[in-house]
Amino acid sequence: MKAILEQLEARRAVAQVGGGEKRIEAQHKRGKLTARERLALLLDEGSFEEYDMFVEHRCTEFGMAESKIPGDGVVTGWGTINGRTVFVFAKDFTVFGGSLSETHAQKITKIQDMALKNRAPIIGLFDAGGARIQEGVAALGGYGEVFQRNVMASGVIPQISVIMGPCAGGDVYSPAMTDFIFMVRDTSYMFVTGPDVVKTVTNETVTAEQLGGASIHTTKSSIADGAYDNDVEALIQMRRLMDFLPANNEEGVPELPSFDDPTRFEDSLDTLIPENPNKPYDIKELIMKVADEGDFFEIQGAFAKNMVTGFGRIAGNTVGFVANQPMMLAGVLDSDASRKAARFVRFCDCFSIPIVTFVDVPGFLPGTAQEYGGLIKHGAKLLFAYAEATVPKVTVITRKAYGGAYDVMSSKHIRGDVNYAWPTAEIAVMGPKGAAEILYRSELGDPDKISKRIDDYTDRFANPFVAAERGYIDEVIMPHSTRKRVARALDMLRNKHLENPWKKHDNIPL
Ligand code: HXC
Repeated sequence: MKAILEQLEARRAVAQVGGGEKRIEAQHKRGKLTARERLALLLDEGSFEEYDMFVEHRCTEFGMAESKIPGDGVVTGWGTINGRTVFVFAKDFTVFGGSLSETHAQKITKIQDMALKNRAPIIGLFDAGGARIQEGVAALGGYGEVFQRNVMASGVIPQISVIMGPCAGGDVYSPAMTDFIFMVRDTSYMFVTGPDVVKTVTNETVTAEQLGGASIHTTKSSIADGAYDNDVEALIQMRRLMDFLPANNEEGVPELPSFDDPTRFEDSLDTLIPENPNKPYDIKELIMKVADEGDFFEIQGAFAKNMVTGFGRIAGNTVGFVANQPMMLAGVLDSDASRKAARFVRFCDCFSIPIVTFVDVPGFLPGTAQEYGGLIKHGAKLLFAYAEATVPKVTVITRKAYGGAYDVMSSKHIRGDVNYAWPTAEIAVMGPKGAAEILYRSELGDPDKISKRIDDYTDRFANPFVAAERGYIDEVIMPHSTRKRVARALDMLRNKHLENPWKKHDNIPL
């Protein structure tokens, strides 16, 4: 008996070192942790249950029959994060470069199936060289199986991808279909085809970082939702993110004990809006002052900075914050900001996360670049996302809410549940200057006359009361009471029940 037990331990020990000490050392030299080290940091201590540790590939081509490593390049199983179940897989770069074989894919799909069946989130850690070249079409088939499961799980359980090394070829599309992608700066990159292929096909010379590093995907392509300096920080932040997310689309948001009084007044908000309506201020200050303990997990913080999205809590319950940022392009809605917020709003709606929207938007960004780039369709994405969302929606207009952007930003007309405005709100078709110059074009040559027209328009329309008189604004509130008013609104909306008509699925303008 003892010998059998020792045999198990010996087999486990072999599997534990993956591709061997030399390759582990190389991994460390590059500033990367191994798959198992990463999982140990991600999950609660001692909670990891590993499955399929002894799985080996079945390939016999290119001498592969003699080259088998238990685990086959991916470590899979489940564990807990702050006590809540999460399924995990981590690509092991020390084993055939983490490349995906038929059996490697089967290990992942087993975990995907378990996560979906048990309605728990799944986190994938990527560090891999794509399809196992020796396996050919069997590897392609494996990817297809993984992709199909990503789609089936979408909107049912949160799916998170963390890119912690190379992620190329077939490996990119599974993360792309998950809810969030995070990267590690300088050690990770993602692309469909690498620098060598790019050089051959387009004659461009680029490095892996220039083609698909975190600096590109968090700012230019918006593929990644955030980036961290190293493996440890990335994994700690994933633990923090998971605390905000529900386990599935039926459970509702987690409730964490909060020591922050939901009725707290924040007097400094009464002076947040500058006297001059064209002067910017930081909308994140408002978010931090409204959220429990100022804890805000920003999503896509480096992309389309004129829009801020992320998770916080109010009275211990997760909310999604969406806010125009006057510090960047005056908070204007452009294609990027619209796409960014639309995807975030849809995530929140999938998972019953109430949405709190702070509005200070001068309108949509004019210009050929935007129109040629599809502003109409991208703007429609955000409009569509808000309009179809059935989760509680609380809106606060702090300053400008002009034109179509007023409608889009969770207005009453697209089923905003509780719509507040600060006394500083200006809700109108357009800004006073633009309005006066169109209505009184013939007076443009006379600066005094036009200035008087602007003043008249400002007095009449640059306030929240015209909208409040119509009931488009439920209440004009004091800025310092925002946290209390939002918290009470969310509490009142706890049992909100709203269903859209049956349909197979909608046809959001993609
Ligand atoms: C088999 C692979 C592999 C692969 C790497 N290795 N990629 N083995 N299949 N795809 C092995 C290497 O042979 C090596 O083995 C070990 O992993 C480490 O690789 P290195 O090249 O030494 O590491 P590094 O210099 O860091 O380069 C990493 C890399 C490079 C950039 C990922 O390995 C690479 O370019 N790999 C191929 C990428 C690729 O073209 N994949 C196929 C994409 S096509 P030893 O034994 O020496 O340690 C695809 C189609 C799917 O995925 C489409 C589905 C929709």
